[in-house]
Amino acid sequence: MKKILITRRLLKACEEKAAKIFEANFNDNDELYSQPKVIEMSQGCDGILTSLTDKMDAETINKLPDSVKILSNFAVGFGNIDLEAAKKKNIAVTNTPDVLTDATAEIGILLILGACRRASEGIQHARESNWKWSADYLIGKQLTGTRLGILGMGRIGQKIAKIAKSLGMIIHYHNRSKLSSEKEQGATYHDSLKNLLSVSDVLSICCPASKETVDLINKDTIEHLPKGAVVTNVARGDIVDDEALIDALDRRKVYAVGLDVYKNEPNLNPGYLKHKSAFILPHLGSATKETRTAMANLAIDNLEEFFKTGKCKNKVN
Ligand code: GLV
Repeated sequence: MKKILITRRLLKACEEKAAKIFEANFNDNDELYSQPKVIEMSQGCDGILTSLTDKMDAETINKLPDSVKILSNFAVGFGNIDLEAAKKKNIAVTNTPDVLTDATAEIGILLILGACRRASEGIQHARESNWKWSADYLIGKQLTGTRLGILGMGRIGQKIAKIAKSLGMIIHYHNRSKLSSEKEQGATYHDSLKNLLSVSDVLSICCPASKETVDLINKDTIEHLPKGAVVTNVARGDIVDDEALIDALDRRKVYAVGLDVYKNEPNLNPGYLKHKSAFILPHLGSATKETRTAMANLAIDNLEEFFKTGKCKNKVN
């Protein structure tokens, strides 16, 4: 039996599945392991089922025992892992694509609706019984006829586009390459970020975090947005320069933000908290029972496939 470390708790049925296939070292208290702890706990292991909360940087990867041959990340994103360092050490890295597309797109739409329709303020007033209906009370932005700019038209971006279209939004996108017309579903392609931003009444950030996308939304790029745009992020906090976005909220260049992901999670920049127009969630993108089960099962299947064949269809490095 192969020996693995599972750094965070999984849903019970998934831990039971893992226990049948591997000699698995579980984290019963769901403690956040430090990097030295991950190194220590993985002694004698053939692989690690990592989570997005594990920062597997080059230093950590280089200190992993040589027996570790795979990091199976319990997430579609893998910005927490230094892919090159893993490759140099001959460690495969896998992710869990597809299974979380729908759940994450749902949260992407919730961010758009929450930010545009002033949900944070509304929830607060309703909880405090501090409101009176009136014709001009908490007027928000209607989505019908509004242009939605999607940054990163992968699986999640395409699903958000489909739902947003049914809400009457007009879809624009920027991607490394133009999609086939079947995948585009009538959306307009922009070959530059600037062009996309200039037509984004609402921006939905859906691209992966990488060296190329870090701080893509910054002081300069924000200026290309129409005045009063709404910025939402369902992908990764690293893509946004928080100071620049908070400054844009202060100046009302940006009307509202809808965020599910942050730099340095869970310690989001406190500048967002002072803005009533910030609709913020604690990284809930894939948080449904169906999706978390499918993700964990896929992360386990990735390990099994790799140990059996030396390959894995979800290998990303
Ligand atoms: C969630 O954020 C994921 O990348 O799976």
